[in-house]
Amino acid sequence: TERLEYLRKLPKAELHLHIEGTLEPELIFQLAQRNGVALPYPSIQALRDAYQFTDLQSFLDLYYAGAAVLITEADFYDMTMAYLARIAQEGVVHTEIMFDPQTHTERGVPIATVFAGIARALREGREIWGMTSCMIMSFLRHLSEQAAFDTLEQALPLREQYRDLWLGIGLDSGEQGNPPEKFERVYARCRELGFYLVAHAGEEGPAAYVSSALDRLKVMRIDHGVRSEEDPLLLQTLAARKIPLTVCPLSNLKLKVVDDMREHNLKRLLDQGLCVTINSDDPAYFGGYLLDNYMAVAEALDLSDRELAILAENSMQARFPVFLTQTS
Ligand code: ADE
Ligand code: ZN
Repeated sequence: TERLEYLRKLPKAELHLHIEGTLEPELIFQLAQRNGVALPYPSIQALRDAYQFTDLQSFLDLYYAGAAVLITEADFYDMTMAYLARIAQEGVVHTEIMFDPQTHTERGVPIATVFAGIARALREGREIWGMTSCMIMSFLRHLSEQAAFDTLEQALPLREQYRDLWLGIGLDSGEQGNPPEKFERVYARCRELGFYLVAHAGEEGPAAYVSSALDRLKVMRIDHGVRSEEDPLLLQTLAARKIPLTVCPLSNLKLKVVDDMREHNLKRLLDQGLCVTINSDDPAYFGGYLLDNYMAVAEALDLSDRELAILAENSMQARFPVFLTQTS
């Protein structure tokens, strides 16, 4: 359609994307076979049919199970290349991808393997398609702060090798009961080390978690943040400080953060002056990549071309500062 072609041409950045969430059922089966990993599903279709989520945790259970097929450097490379090939067709000129090393090191996969496969793909992607990219190493918040410190310690020897790519630190997994302040000290350390900081907050958790991510973790962006709307004072702060929210519409729908896309607060947040961006989160699980997310809200919220252009421009402005000096 005309709308789709208009959106494709807008230069866009993807700022909230879990690379493990790009594993399509076809690739899960292929890697399972390659690595001799048994899957509890008889077919690709049976696995896809299981993608019926009731909340964040019901999704995370499947997402971590799916990630168990990732064993070798080639697996991480193949997964990342498949994602880059896809977004190259969608007019995505920049991507900041999150990855969860603890999901892999807990299974005995060396952290160096995880970094190597993803990084090789990102470097090749730059050559082939010209998109810029970087990596956000994310801590699993259902695990302890000590586990996050251990992960940081394991990763730091790799930093020099990936100076150009590993720029950020994130926080994801089950939000409720795992508030940002649980990770205050490890974030302080990452800040000292010069990483850019982001965190999931206000997806399923309350607006207070968004405030805590800002005040105690000192993040520069909020992943999701849709529940910020419950605190008008917080909304004012987010607008005044131009803190970007990386909103993921199809994710919110599939995980029942909203019951109907027409009820999504993305347009209200935009109208209140927030730097709202559109992202895909875990596209293989939520039924769409970046353009699908733009199309879904454009339709459901009746967004104008101008509003869509602002959302795309917001994504370019909300890139990590090192990228902002480049032409956009
Ligand atoms: N890990 C992958 N996707 C996530 C999400 N939407 N929220 C929290 N953790 C995640
Ligand atoms: Zn996410």
